[in-house]
Amino acid sequence: MNTALFDRLSAVQADLVVTLVPTEAALPQSTSWVDENTAGLISQLRESKVFSGKLAETLLLPVASQDYAQAVLLVGIGKDETLSDASARKVMAAVAAKAKSLPYASIAFAGAELAIAGHSQAQALSLTSQWLHEGFYQFTGFKQDDQALTIESILFEGTDQGALDVGVATAAGSAVARRLGDLPGNVCTPSYLASKAQTLGEDYGIDVELVDESRMSELGMDCLLSVGRGSDQPSYLIVMSYKGGDEGDAPYVMLGKGITFDTGGISLKPGPGMDEMKYDMCGAASVFGTMKAICELKPKVNFTAVVAAAENMPNGNASKPGDIVKTMSGQTVEILNTDAEGRLVLCDALTYIERFEPKSVIDVATLTGACVVALGGVNSAMYTNNEALHDDLRGASKVSADKVWPMPLDDEYQQQLDSNFADIANIGGKEAGSVTAACFLSRFTKSYPWAHLDIAGTAWTGGAKKGASGRPVALLTQYLLSKAN
Ligand code: BES
Ligand code: MN
Ligand code: ZN
Repeated sequence: MNTALFDRLSAVQADLVVTLVPTEAALPQSTSWVDENTAGLISQLRESKVFSGKLAETLLLPVASQDYAQAVLLVGIGKDETLSDASARKVMAAVAAKAKSLPYASIAFAGAELAIAGHSQAQALSLTSQWLHEGFYQFTGFKQDDQALTIESILFEGTDQGALDVGVATAAGSAVARRLGDLPGNVCTPSYLASKAQTLGEDYGIDVELVDESRMSELGMDCLLSVGRGSDQPSYLIVMSYKGGDEGDAPYVMLGKGITFDTGGISLKPGPGMDEMKYDMCGAASVFGTMKAICELKPKVNFTAVVAAAENMPNGNASKPGDIVKTMSGQTVEILNTDAEGRLVLCDALTYIERFEPKSVIDVATLTGACVVALGGVNSAMYTNNEALHDDLRGASKVSADKVWPMPLDDEYQQQLDSNFADIANIGGKEAGSVTAACFLSRFTKSYPWAHLDIAGTAWTGGAKKGASGRPVALLTQYLLSKAN
């Protein structure tokens, strides 16, 4: 899909022109211009309440008599002068849903006057362009009647090319994450993720290193290896390095949990809804998506993306409850529950990452059901051992409208991980399940500023609209952009 900017609707030609209609405020300039060109049709529709401009309400006006477009799509923006992130997102989703159902090839979105509370005009352009593109995401390749989108180009009202680029690249990254997440477990295996990393390397000229099982064994990553032992699929540690910053500058590192399917292992999960455990690699997917966005935007920063990929299955070689394994750090772990496998792959990856002497490490993981209970699908849980990193992530979260909420890492929780037989147990009991999972990881992250994002509630939606969300690609991309010099 091509994108470009325009500064006045009168100078544009597109199949479909989209304009904003507030319920009470004066019509935005572009809407006024269409109104004048249609003998006051929009004003009439609004006065008669046929189309009153309620939030995310849409109305398609065929205007084939005009030469600038085939049709005008009115979209309501409600009564408030500035929209919340959530309301603006609804508006863009409504526009995308409508545009997707039409046969048009080009769209001009006259949204310069869409003000989003707490965001500059440039940021609003990034967000609206990101959200419109995200609305066009389709999961294809598995239904016989798949239909390609007809949309070829989108024009945005505005002047800041950089802001548009950020929105478009973020949406492209989010699409990568969603597709990897939505792919079934029989396609998206650890080897598949490894091959996708190699493709990204070829496409953008970034360095890709695959650490295979024999190399992991040499490195002493027996805890990571223990997770994939019950599967016929080999595990991989995948390392992708984007070098946009100064040579020799330490990288920002992001690590994704890449359990391509989580059956629970011998501590088998219940059957209903188990299909959703194909999404247990969404942390990895978000790190891939962030790498895609960064490769598109080319900021001056060094960024290393690491993925710990394995399949958690219960065959005869699988770990059993009570098994003790040694981590790369030397600490031993008593695996009391083989379903708490995410922390087992992440801990060795976190130790491996020490070799990069990273500026910061952010791990991203669909780690605990307890996190879904605590925060639902609104906020990702954020844990960190570093105040500056906390502030940076909160800032990036605000700018990207990709929400995170700070969670505690008090020492008092650590004792829940005591084991009679090893240095640490892999589960901490019923209470504070998301916190004790983070506490487990904290034992392996003492040598660098570290944050952990538990995205179990935010990475995908279940139910009738089941699908990956692409979160937190927007947050992670914004974090890296804020670090570019
Ligand atoms: N991948 C799951 C966490 C999960 C569950 C994410 C449901 C999203 C929805 C993780 O590997 C897991 O199974 N965690 C266990 C930990 C428990 C055994 C301590 C959980 O949350 O039940
Ligand atoms: Mn599990
Ligand atoms: Zn899992």
